[in-house]
Amino acid sequence: MSSFKMLAVETSCDESAAAVVGADASGRIRLLSNIVSSQVELHARWGGVVPNLAAREHLKNLPLVIEQALQESALRPKDIDALAVTQGPGLIPALLVGTEFAKTLAYCWHKPLLGIHHIEGHIYANLIGSQKSSKIKFPALCLVVSGGHTQLVLMRDHFRYEIIGQTLDDAAGEAFDKVARILDIGYPGGPAVSAKAETANCKSEAPGGKITLPRPMLNKKGYDFSFSGLKTAVLYETKKLKEQLSAADYEKLIPEICREFQQAAIDVLVAKTIQAAEKHDPKTIMLAGGVSANKELRRQLGEAISVSMPDTCYLVPDTTLTGDNAAMIATAAALRWSKMTAHEKQIALDGWQNVRPDANLKLK
Ligand code: KG4
Ligand code: ZN
Repeated sequence: MSSFKMLAVETSCDESAAAVVGADASGRIRLLSNIVSSQVELHARWGGVVPNLAAREHLKNLPLVIEQALQESALRPKDIDALAVTQGPGLIPALLVGTEFAKTLAYCWHKPLLGIHHIEGHIYANLIGSQKSSKIKFPALCLVVSGGHTQLVLMRDHFRYEIIGQTLDDAAGEAFDKVARILDIGYPGGPAVSAKAETANCKSEAPGGKITLPRPMLNKKGYDFSFSGLKTAVLYETKKLKEQLSAADYEKLIPEICREFQQAAIDVLVAKTIQAAEKHDPKTIMLAGGVSANKELRRQLGEAISVSMPDTCYLVPDTTLTGDNAAMIATAAALRWSKMTAHEKQIALDGWQNVRPDANLKLK
């Protein structure tokens, strides 16, 4: 295999990102630059991502992040062999900016362009870092937990995905975000809830005793999830406590509500992953998506795997790569590129116009 360089762009939600990876002749992929310009502060005052605002920001930020990604990798456009862009799923105004931008570059620089699935990127974030690309063994099972997705994905080989379980309603990250909103503890919700949960003091008890929340779907057959009932249970518990307690006493219980909510979500995520692993006997179990930043989830899933299936390799993405970024898109694209035939590469060069954004793109 000959060495090559891949530049990728990601704009599916509220991060404008560009990254460059290089593959050497042995197929080893190295991250050369990874630039993320976050819009979190802009959207915080709305309590969630506003699609048109996100698109406008991407338009402003993309030229800058791409230029910086090239500068940090010490490469020029002529040194880049192929381009990649997140094709979906995501917010359509945001995806449109990224794909149109990437297509313009493909046309002007005369480079092939690959459209990459956002979740595929999150999964392949697990391979970024020294020696990691050799670690993935198939079949592999991946628990994908992001703001828009909660899925158990079985992979029998690279780029072969079978979704064996998924959420029937809210995604795990969405539940964290909604709970943070109910408790009014900040945005984005996941980091806010987990930070509060860390400060929980097991001795603080509600007047009716310990706060306990349901573990939805835990005793149901199959590998599907449901988080909307759990979020509603937090809403009712919070309403009840606010009525029963002084404002100061209610405030003291917020960390305990966060801890119990987080634990309820983790209990279900870990139990379903282990059940699916017992059935499919994967050689590798991976965690992916924004919620994989959650320290407790990373630790407890790792512990459960080492108890139930100690021979299985457990991969988690580096904590700097759990959120949306272009390094994961570039890595997935580089691996795809390395497996493409000369004919397929020519199609990617001639067919850059065919990369169209799709808000509901399926992982297949
Ligand atoms: O993958 P991601 O960055 O964007 C999507 O593709 O959706 O995931 C974002 C989600 C948000 O819901 C955010 O609250 C959640 O990941 N998240 C966390 C943590 N950090 C981010 N959830 C739980 N614990 C965290 N530490
Ligand atoms: Zn994501």
